[in-house]
Amino acid sequence: MPDTMIAVIGGSGLYDIDGLEGAKWQEVASPFGTPSDAILTGTLEGVKMAFLPRHGRGHVHTPSSVPYRANIDALKRLGATDVISVSACGSFREQMAPGDFVLVDQFIDRTVARENSFFGPGCVAHVSVAHPTCPRLGAACRTAARAAGITMHDGGTYLAMEGPQFSTLAESRIYREHWGADVIGMTNMPEARLAREAELCYASVAMVTDYDSWHPQHGEVDVAEIIRTLMGNADKGRDMVRRLPALLGAARMPCPHGCDRALNNAILTDPSV
Ligand code: ADE
Repeated sequence: MPDTMIAVIGGSGLYDIDGLEGAKWQEVASPFGTPSDAILTGTLEGVKMAFLPRHGRGHVHTPSSVPYRANIDALKRLGATDVISVSACGSFREQMAPGDFVLVDQFIDRTVARENSFFGPGCVAHVSVAHPTCPRLGAACRTAARAAGITMHDGGTYLAMEGPQFSTLAESRIYREHWGADVIGMTNMPEARLAREAELCYASVAMVTDYDSWHPQHGEVDVAEIIRTLMGNADKGRDMVRRLPALLGAARMPCPHGCDRALNNAILTDPSV
């Protein structure tokens, strides 16, 4: 088995980690394009770590222009075994309040303009994403978050929208009342699908920044409010990440849920063709 390498895809507040040994920014080439940015690598408590700013340093990528395939492929090439997505989201539930974290375990994918597979003509594969996140990795995130004093909701359905505009009031009500979504964001898809195709364990930690537009006591979504909440959460997010190496360990075991073997029996194309 390879060593564990924990890869965190997230925003700027997260990769400023004290004690990251041998820290260096590495450019990683991918046949799927140029990743969002260089990847910060290093070792934390003896465990390999990688940090990829999803929107690039300086926030140059929109949710639709993030090169999701290049990002996941570059992390795989570096040796990542576990990918933790940290992202902002709006909430459809009163109890999932701004400042709280949600351990997402399901997705409704409403994105329409993104490359969502490594496979295609010439090599056809259909992987299962019935359970798109890794329970083992999620449990480590939950334990780390709670030890860091974070309010972490265990489980939630994330509606991935294309954006860049936020939802209309009618959409917000449909997603919440009829579709059973708990949170909404613009970045977790196709990232989760691609992580599964790359046989990487994937967990999604969504930080609630607003109540989208459904809540009668809260107005429309406001970017300034989102940024204020994210800044306020940066220390908490870093504290959670710092606790992960001790929980996951340097010696990698086969994933008990099979994330690292997702392609077994998924590829239909005859390898001799
Ligand atoms: N990211 C943060 N808040 C959001 C919202 N309300 N809708 C979509 N993406 C978001």
